[in-house]
Amino acid sequence: MKKQLIAGNWKMNGSLEANDALVRAIVAGMAGAKCSVAVCVPAPYFAQVQMLKSGSQLELGAQDVSQHEKGAYTGEVSAAMLREFGIRYVVVGHSERRQYHGETDAVVAEKTKAALAHGITPIVCVGETLEEREAGRTEEVVKRQMAAIIHVNGHCISEIAVAYEPVWAIGTGRTATPQQAQEVHALLRKQLAAATAHAERVHILYGGSMNAANAAGLLAQPDIDGGLIGGASLKAADFLQIIGSARMPA
Ligand code: PGA
Repeated sequence: MKKQLIAGNWKMNGSLEANDALVRAIVAGMAGAKCSVAVCVPAPYFAQVQMLKSGSQLELGAQDVSQHEKGAYTGEVSAAMLREFGIRYVVVGHSERRQYHGETDAVVAEKTKAALAHGITPIVCVGETLEEREAGRTEEVVKRQMAAIIHVNGHCISEIAVAYEPVWAIGTGRTATPQQAQEVHALLRKQLAAATAHAERVHILYGGSMNAANAAGLLAQPDIDGGLIGGASLKAADFLQIIGSARMPA
């Protein structure tokens, strides 16, 4: 069985001073962790965090990547550039990017492909809005989002990670129950299994107000392979407690 993955998504937070304290505390506190741990940080801090984490098991992640290889795309960062900074994971298609930056399923699929082409594991985010859940459309929405990724990435699909992040749970303090999350994770696993013989290999993370208090219940579910953590990843003690709640690989 694979190790669970606990990934922090700092979003647009941090400073040289705050990062220094946070990463040092994570590195010191995660020794002996039974899961993989990553922090997805704003691009200007790659070099700083790379240095702070050196010699530890902590992995470095980014929060976005361009779907283009290189060229006249002002403001964009390519997968090759991320790779040069030792980036192991990149969050792709976060709901904030879909909502505020107009990223479509097709763009998210192309970004996923760009990351894979450079040996970076994309953490592909899917999830329904509150309105969609209340209309009973959760399954349809997440399946549509995932189908676009499978369509473009074909047999490489077993190399991705997925984050199920119900939009209504992100930053709201309102978490999906372990049962609600497990239900969606199971259907995503089934969808992946129809596309690859290695669906068990794929980390399907839960994200959305995961915190020190609710992590253990979520991480105990059979199809929840870790967490993508926003707010609680900015506090070392909380993030370390979530890391400590990971299930043992059997
Ligand atoms: P949250 O964010 O943990 O603050 O809800 C999760 C995310 O958006 O990845």
